Amino acid sequence: MCFLEKVLNLHLNLYYLGKKSMNSIQLKDKEFELYIPEREIKGAIERVAREIERDVAGTNPLFVGILNGAFMFIADLMYYLNGPYELTFARYASYHGTGSTGELKEIMPIKSDIKGRSLILLEDIIDSGFTMKCVMQKLKNEGVADIKLATMLWKPDAMQYDIKPDYVGLEISNDFIVGYGLDYDELGRAYRDIYKIKEDNHK
Ligand code: IMP
Ligand code: MG
Repeated sequence: MCFLEKVLNLHLNLYYLGKKSMNSIQLKDKEFELYIPEREIKGAIERVAREIERDVAGTNPLFVGILNGAFMFIADLMYYLNGPYELTFARYASYHGTGSTGELKEIMPIKSDIKGRSLILLEDIIDSGFTMKCVMQKLKNEGVADIKLATMLWKPDAMQYDIKPDYVGLEISNDFIVGYGLDYDELGRAYRDIYKIKEDNHK
């Protein structure tokens, strides 16, 4: 590490030390406790950016940010990339009927021409895998050449559908979380740390 890097690192450490994370938050009827601090999230996203860049160097992929939950991940990931990359957005909602296969609703389709393109989907979290399974199948049917999936978070123990993300920020336990874009009933997206639901909420 050169002198300049050491100075910058010291500044970064002081910056994070100066920030106050709340140990717990209340959203409506549920209490959440601090789970993943901002610094760890950003470090993971920067690593994912390096991995993607190593793989796509010299090609022209189309990044597709999946709204709403991934908005912070999308911004950070694009910030850490260094290239003339194209970014577009889409929005889906999934409904998991009890015992049914569920249903995917397209709220905002991709506006760019995706035929023959290599896509990199940017998703906030993979839980059962239902949403990404449906979205990837749908895009394949629309004639894309190749799809890769980058997710900020992955709950491997919650998987029910057969998909495997190509890039993963952090693997987490099978608990409900909020913050860094993720919500509980539309609340909690703006927190810069990630919070996990408190155990006693389950009782
Ligand atoms: P899946 O279809 O079961 O994989 O769920 C994916 C979607 O559900 C994600 O894109 C999120 O929007 C939402 N989701 C899954 N787990 C959580 C969570 O722990 N907190 C908030 N939203 C979640
Ligand atoms: Mg989502």
